[in-house]
Amino acid sequence: MTKSPVRKIVIAGNWKMYKTQAESLEFLRGFLPSLDETPQDREVVLCVPFTDLNVLSKSLHGSRVQLGAQNVHWEEFGAYTGEISGPMLSEIGVRYVIVGHSERRQYFGETDYTVNLRLKAAQRFGLTPILCVGETKQQRDKLETESLIANQLEKNLVDVDQENLVIAYEPIWAIGTGDTCESKEANRIIGFIRSKLSNPDVPIQYGGSVKPNNIDEIMAQSEIDGVLVGGASLEPESFARIANYK
Ligand code: PGA
Repeated sequence: MTKSPVRKIVIAGNWKMYKTQAESLEFLRGFLPSLDETPQDREVVLCVPFTDLNVLSKSLHGSRVQLGAQNVHWEEFGAYTGEISGPMLSEIGVRYVIVGHSERRQYFGETDYTVNLRLKAAQRFGLTPILCVGETKQQRDKLETESLIANQLEKNLVDVDQENLVIAYEPIWAIGTGDTCESKEANRIIGFIRSKLSNPDVPIQYGGSVKPNNIDEIMAQSEIDGVLVGGASLEPESFARIANYK
């Protein structure tokens, strides 16, 4: 099984609400030298807290790592306390933004409708959104995985440009649990996601307890074009091993 050479490979870290500026710089000191030999066939992205973006933008200048944020509002500016806009992110060199992560949907009332607005805003302001979709354990047990994901895609992707998009399949039961989705099953669901898209070349990542010890098997799957990594992206050695998958 070989991967399509057309689709971009995107290895992204999601730091969630971890790392002060000082800690983020400490991370880079360990991480960047480990990328000297990283093949050019893959994009390496760090999606970091808002307060780390500015300092990392300067420190990553000239490196091969792209900068990502973890959310974006749908308006250009306005009275939206606690939110951040696309121009604020793109001005400092942010290229990617995670949209619709299950933690946003679960804890912060993000809906399919607001996810759709955020996706379109990201693209309007020159960012590449990483749209997260995936089922709960309960939905999986009730055999609702495909219908749930089809429904998320249908609602989230209304009027979204599929030429400037990354999708992450993140089964919620696999996030932060150490309970990785079996790689062949992740490959199957990602193939299903691809079948629902108008552009079959959208890079589709797997996310959920990706670790140095399972990355090679995950990336060997024909449909999987990268990974979205939480916990294992916080340590330079483990994220470097993931970025340098074989
Ligand atoms: P995890 O998180 O790698 O810690 O499971 C993945 C994610 O939430 O994107």
